[in-house]
Amino acid sequence: MSLSCYVHIPYCIQKCLYCDFTTFTRDKLPPSETYINWVKKEIENRHQGIKDRNLRSIYFGGGTPSLIPAKEITLIIECLKKHFVFHPNIEISIEINPGTLTEKSLQTYQSAGINRFSVGVQTFRDDLLKLFNREHSAQHTRTTLELLVKNKAVFSADLLFALNHQSRKDLKKDLELLLLYTPHHISTYYLTLPAHHLLQKNRAPESVQLQMFQDIEHRLRKEGFDHYEISNFSQKGFHSRHNLTYWSDRNYWGLGLSAHSFLKFNNQRVRFWNPKNLKAYSEQVKQKTTEPFPFSILPKEQNETLDLHEALTDFCHTALRTRWGIQQIKLKTTFGNKGLESALKKLNNLKQKNLIKKQDKRWVLPFSSWLISNSIFREMTFLKEDL
Ligand SMILES: C[S@@+](CC[C@H](N)C(=O)[O-])C[C@H]1O[C@@H](n2cnc3c(N)ncnc32)[C@H](O)[C@@H]1O
Ligand code: SF4
Repeated sequence: MSLSCYVHIPYCIQKCLYCDFTTFTRDKLPPSETYINWVKKEIENRHQGIKDRNLRSIYFGGGTPSLIPAKEITLIIECLKKHFVFHPNIEISIEINPGTLTEKSLQTYQSAGINRFSVGVQTFRDDLLKLFNREHSAQHTRTTLELLVKNKAVFSADLLFALNHQSRKDLKKDLELLLLYTPHHISTYYLTLPAHHLLQKNRAPESVQLQMFQDIEHRLRKEGFDHYEISNFSQKGFHSRHNLTYWSDRNYWGLGLSAHSFLKFNNQRVRFWNPKNLKAYSEQVKQKTTEPFPFSILPKEQNETLDLHEALTDFCHTALRTRWGIQQIKLKTTFGNKGLESALKKLNNLKQKNLIKKQDKRWVLPFSSWLISNSIFREMTFLKEDL
């Protein structure tokens, strides 16, 4: 069975106003060397039950993984290599903040097998970068992208849209500036904020935000990108193998502070997660598991075994995020006749409203439904009594 690993690196230069991830500025964290040692402990103490799994991807996310010494990232790769078989085409990605990559660190990453770089571009507008408390300028972004292009690295770029004071024209300009660097992959995220957040002011009305999403789709398709997931676009052959893990009911092990995991075994699906608190995390990773699975030593409130209706809900929600949708046969093989029946009832309802289509024995959301995906997901949520 295959496995993917996510490694959380919580270090940031400063905190962006819109960010809700578990990240801290360096003064609030121990030296990165100490943190890396905790992650290594976590691998060494908990890998026993899954060591026979084939590692198909590793993803260093954050935070700002490119902020800590590149050598420390390679120590994690070496540690994983000691305990797992790497798939011959393993994808190893790292998130890079503009201005934090150097020729030397890039070389260190590439020598260690990192073969995909994800750059947090967000926008090329300096006034917005400043407003969001980003630590870099658009010039830093250009220099980082140029470095990746010069070294023939495979890279993806994250862009945010529906930003404060952002018009459709502004967004189109961001897209054009990014396309100059011919990225292999682009993720475009709608800026998501809590209801009364300071940055909710001066944003385009919802109708314009929807047009922005359409503008992105239109422009990137024209450039040859495959719109394969709500927020993700890829040139041929450059889909994110790691992120596909999350949308295709596959196993992933999250390492580091606050990281989440999902494992299937003995016909069960288990989610488990690490604490957000540094002290609790550092204490927990010291305990060596005696049971066969990495979650077995975690307290009750840090793991859950999914009931069938919860697993079916997750399965449908994640699959519908991609252009491959739900494979009908998989509903039957994974959730039995009862699961299939229950899902078909909901899928046929959506079909009658033209919100979903059936093609080649798959149920797929058309682009217009991706625009309102949250309401579709609500309809595709199963209760205990549905099964
Ligand atoms: C975990 S962040 C880390 C990336 C990197 N530290 C950076 O900021 O460039 C990954 C991506 O999530 C997206 N993101 C962060 N906060 C967001 C928000 N509130 N709404 C939508 N996307 C967000 C950004 O595009 C970011 O590049
Ligand atoms: S740099 Fe990235 S991870 Fe860090 S605070 Fe900003 S958005 Fe969050």
